[in-house]
Amino acid sequence: MTSVIEKTIRAAVTPVMGAVANYNRKRLPDPEEGHPYLTGVHAPMQSEETISAMQVTGTIPSGLDGRYMRIGPNPVTPPQAGSYHWFVGDGMAHGIRIKDGEAVWYRNRWIRSNAVSDALGEERKPGTRKPRTDTANTNIVGINGRTFAIVEAGGFPVELDDELNTIKHNPFDGTLTHAFSAHPHEDPETGEMHAICYDAPIGDKVWHVVVSPDGNVTREEPIAVKDGPSIHDCQITKNNVLVFDLPATFSMKRMLAGYAFPYDWNPDHGARVGLLPKTGSNADIIWCELDEPCYVYHPANAFETADGKTVVDVVVHESTYAQTTFGPGGSWSRFERWTIDPVSKKVDRKILHDRPQEFPRYDERLTSQPYRYAYAVSLGGEHGDFDVAGTELYKHDLESGETLTRDFGDSRHPGEFVFVPSSDAADEDEGWLIGLVIDSKNETSELTILKADDFLGEPQAVIHVPHRIPPGFHGNWVAS
Ligand SMILES: [Fe+2]
Repeated sequence: MTSVIEKTIRAAVTPVMGAVANYNRKRLPDPEEGHPYLTGVHAPMQSEETISAMQVTGTIPSGLDGRYMRIGPNPVTPPQAGSYHWFVGDGMAHGIRIKDGEAVWYRNRWIRSNAVSDALGEERKPGTRKPRTDTANTNIVGINGRTFAIVEAGGFPVELDDELNTIKHNPFDGTLTHAFSAHPHEDPETGEMHAICYDAPIGDKVWHVVVSPDGNVTREEPIAVKDGPSIHDCQITKNNVLVFDLPATFSMKRMLAGYAFPYDWNPDHGARVGLLPKTGSNADIIWCELDEPCYVYHPANAFETADGKTVVDVVVHESTYAQTTFGPGGSWSRFERWTIDPVSKKVDRKILHDRPQEFPRYDERLTSQPYRYAYAVSLGGEHGDFDVAGTELYKHDLESGETLTRDFGDSRHPGEFVFVPSSDAADEDEGWLIGLVIDSKNETSELTILKADDFLGEPQAVIHVPHRIPPGFHGNWVAS
């Protein structure tokens, strides 16, 4: 099945170029040892399950009332492996409902793109979609009591019901025009969400999009860029939105060669971070240069300092898309603190933790303020590729500089862990860390609830899922 992002991009070029890409795609050889993101721990699920009697070890906190939701790629039919990229698979959402100290249900559901509905023999879902792309596989969020699966590169949000069934393709009730992102960030002061969004076929601009607390887009401000950069995430401070314009850019060469995700490492693009005033325009951005090219998928928090600088903590990759067309892969990563000086227009980089890692999270009530703790998942390998089958979870104390390492053990692989405060009044780190751990030996999964302030202690609770949930991208706790 041709991926949606692939179709998006092909539709943007001339029919002749699209025909060349299609011709070459069919000639791309399958990887000899199987596609690394379609086999082993990544082998997709083949069915949708509803499980109501869940085995639990430990005690689920009685104060947790809501759903833990996670999403990732899970092709409904085997894609052409030579062209396939991890980032373009059909979306599948997983959820566990927790209430009154019990795990009420587990569900997994494919996001109904037209291709998924066709493959499952169902009627297509209604709603407004981009003519060329209609799946969402990267993040799943609650907005004003509704659930949305979201994605970058131009696809519109897909609205789900509380049980993860697709309701409709929904660009925020018609208020979104251009594109969205998998990483909106809520401003605790206003309740607004900010995102930097790009549309794959459009190379010369991205947008600062603001979504109001009631779920309507109130701003789509264009920002001029070149080369079609893939901007995965952003972050906000009190006054600004951070725009990571880094050298992973659209590649016509890869597109014509038939690859599903035609982005490549392009150090000639330069590397800069923009400080865009939240209500400013393109002319107001202060661009600050990095000395060396690098890539950031995910920042942790950011905040402004008394001397007018901006601090942002980021997982940095030396490069991305450089060594493989199957996934992000290919270079070292580590946790760094960037101090951005809008006067010198330079970015000072300091290493916080020199181990491969990803998916940094923190207490999001502190977004745009100084904070102490960040939590991240180890990547496998020694500065190797983007191998999500690491076994460790890190707790970074940014005040002391100490990092605690929780090792889940051989063949046990944690995904992103989200921090959930134990109450509205709880201090930072007073609450739970919730995430999925895959047991690849036994082909099972465990929704693991840790006490954040007893990071290395016995889990508060483990909810056992009797099958392997493939590594996905992002998960969130959405309180009822
Ligand atoms: Fe992400």
